[in-house]
Amino acid sequence: MIELAGRTSPLPVLQQPQWNSEESLSAIRAELDERDPLVGCNGHRQLQDQLTEVARGEGFVLQAGDCAETFSDSGPDRVMAKAAQLDDLAQLFESIADVPAVRIGRLAGQYAKPRSELTETLPCGGTVPVYRGDAVNGAEPTPEDRAADPKRLLAAYEHARSALRTLDDEAGGGRPYTSHEALLLDYEEPLTRVCACHGYPYASSAPFLWIGDRTRQPGGAHIAWADSIANPVGVKVGKAADHGEIAEIVDRLTAGRPAGRLSLIVRMGADLIGRHLPRLVERCGDRVLWICDPMHGNTTKRVTGQKARLVPAVLEEIEQFFRILFAAGLHPGGLHLEVTPAAVDECVDFPSELCAPAVRFRSACDPRLNAAQSEQVVGVAAKLLSAG
Ligand code: PEP
Ligand code: CO
Repeated sequence: MIELAGRTSPLPVLQQPQWNSEESLSAIRAELDERDPLVGCNGHRQLQDQLTEVARGEGFVLQAGDCAETFSDSGPDRVMAKAAQLDDLAQLFESIADVPAVRIGRLAGQYAKPRSELTETLPCGGTVPVYRGDAVNGAEPTPEDRAADPKRLLAAYEHARSALRTLDDEAGGGRPYTSHEALLLDYEEPLTRVCACHGYPYASSAPFLWIGDRTRQPGGAHIAWADSIANPVGVKVGKAADHGEIAEIVDRLTAGRPAGRLSLIVRMGADLIGRHLPRLVERCGDRVLWICDPMHGNTTKRVTGQKARLVPAVLEEIEQFFRILFAAGLHPGGLHLEVTPAAVDECVDFPSELCAPAVRFRSACDPRLNAAQSEQVVGVAAKLLSAG
């Protein structure tokens, strides 16, 4: 479905909510416009320098966190637990691979989700709009909670701001860079600011943003927005991606930019990465940073219908990713994971576990690796890098 943004951008745009009030949306956008930037321009400049080093083969990106952060799980203790987990994983990676790990959290702003369906059918019959993340609507399957309320954009800003304050005050040397999917242009556009020192526009919602697999149309509003900002950005690339389209995006988002400005975050699945990635790597070569997302192409279901991911499939995609990049003489630049410090059983170690219900599925969206699974995955990636 192509909708017209009709506000800042006249370009086609996908996956935007049907807000329940245009009047409220305009007022909220104006309010966001007045707010302070969430992050100053130094954040993305420092990160860009580190990503340029990674592009030279001197480092590795570890980007990890929730699939969907929720407002209720964004208090200081939770933010610190998530930042600590990322720092622990990065230290583990560094100790094995002996290269610096650039820590990027899916944190302090990951409140919006692209969805495959517009509505969800309830067990008792009837439908409600799908949950699109706390920045859009509520998770309760009622028409009231699922209405897309622009006031939630302001709440997202407030939650991101308090999470960033917590990180500033408490995270010390392990403070990660923050990132989220730049999905809601009604949030990102008012927070796009002109840097007073350098005179160019940048996204002030986070140092690093990525464009999802569903919204990266070369002629669409999301890619145009990514082109307009100075920040380093990622673009997700799934198994169905048209390589001509990806090459067009790469041309556009790397022209006149430093090395490491664009990351292609590959999420093709363990079964298809071997078929599709070699040709894409040949086409785009060293103009981008190659990051492996071994989560989103490996989503399966339990017999109960609950989403799940098999850790062996995650590991298999990572192994193939490293093999393909090394065979092309390129640097495998990073890993993009959905993880949580919470004791969950959202991802499983053995296929037989898919026959039983998850007892601790707490994710607001996709299944995340728990602490032990995350360490296993990061350890394997670090060994592959050091062996390469
Ligand atoms: C995500 O990162 O949670 C996501 C929805 O990814 P993708 O765009 O790759 O599907
Ligand atoms: Co996800």
